[in-house]
Amino acid sequence: RAATDYQAEDATISQGAVATNHTGYTGTGFVDYTNITGSYVEFTVSAASAGASPVTLRYANGTAVDRPMDLSVNGTVVASGVTFPATADWNTWATKSVNVQLGAGSNKIRATATTANGGPNLDRVSVGAAADTQAPSR
Ligand code: GCU
Repeated sequence: RAATDYQAEDATISQGAVATNHTGYTGTGFVDYTNITGSYVEFTVSAASAGASPVTLRYANGTAVDRPMDLSVNGTVVASGVTFPATADWNTWATKSVNVQLGAGSNKIRATATTANGGPNLDRVSVGAAADTQAPSR
């Protein structure tokens, strides 16, 4: 099953803002976490069945310093201090994948900045395996 994309600018945003002042984002913009500990973006995603699923965050970090975030699923932190290292500049996007357990149906995935620098700029999350990593069907 191919991954489903969820745009950050369409998610629930706390202490962040939708922005378009850099290039290379998908959708209509990205979220600029303000430089505040605890700022977050929360996505409502759907899973066909319960089980482990890769969650891939597409981000940019045009500084030299890591912008770690905690990832929670349905209110429980499932990965703390996930690193979002520097990208070449704010126009250059990278991906970070974490494997999480999802329940069947609707799930809330939240990415919360854990330092006063805030999170990286966040473009989207993709849930599920990328199409090009799946075994060929035969
Ligand atoms: C710059 C950049 C923003 C970014 C911010 C930050 O202002 O233009 O896109 O969000 O730095 O430090 O987070």
